[in-house]
Amino acid sequence: MVVILLGPPGVGKGTQAVRLADSVGWEHISTGDLLRAARRDGTELGKKAQAYMDAGELVPDALILELVREHLRGVAPEAGILFDGFPRTTTQADGLALVLAGAGRRVDRVVVFDADEEELVRRLAGRRSCRDCGAVYNMHTSPPAGNVCDRCGGELVHRPDDQPDTVRRRLVVYRELTEPLISHYEGMDSLVVRIDAGRPVEAVAETFRQAVDRGAA
Ligand code: AP5
Repeated sequence: MVVILLGPPGVGKGTQAVRLADSVGWEHISTGDLLRAARRDGTELGKKAQAYMDAGELVPDALILELVREHLRGVAPEAGILFDGFPRTTTQADGLALVLAGAGRRVDRVVVFDADEEELVRRLAGRRSCRDCGAVYNMHTSPPAGNVCDRCGGELVHRPDDQPDTVRRRLVVYRELTEPLISHYEGMDSLVVRIDAGRPVEAVAETFRQAVDRGAA
């Protein structure tokens, strides 16, 4: 099964995607995580992506599609896949459809998370991420026990693109370029399920699980 998780910055895509993929043994593909790893490793792609990410703009489609194609080469042909934060433009959606068709697969479900903009801004202001293992915390709702990562002891950082001005830009970019994908998929007869992600983590997790189970063959 191939599932796409769409939603604005800070809505909880990463939080829920990690939980679900871990529990069902699917491949979790987050283009944001792949880009941050490329930046940490100092690759050419990481260098090219840096300015776009720090400004809250989308990284060009061609770079993203190459990144995803490369990553998919290491994924078993029958593996369940949960895409998190990809695709974000219709060009990326078309590119993904082509790659999947080449493997005899298609997008089975599109799950859309949404929440009030005020809540998104609050979550991003409180988010802290581990520089080493990527674990995500929230200073208001799920703080670490101390000043370092509970899981690995790594340093906790406030992502540079979580600064208020950049968050505002990311929200505009989402509404202009990514939200139209919802009607794109509805028009292709894909099963689109919308979830109110402004609720507590456990409640969202339960609804997300049900939405995905309904599509499991
Ligand atoms: P990316 O890292 O994908 O950022 P994003 O989509 O903006 O999503 P976030 O990671 O900010 O939020 P999230 O929804 O995962 O929320 P989280 O679970 O962390 O992309 C970053 C940049 O990379 C982009 O701006 C772009 O430049 C580039 N990029 C990436 N993919 C691209 C693509 N396909 N094309 C082009 N460019 C691309 O939760 C947020 C906080 O809230 C956390 O603190 C969490 O603990 C807390 N939280 C989560 N759920 C709840 C809840 N239910 N209640 C209370 N708190 C909660």
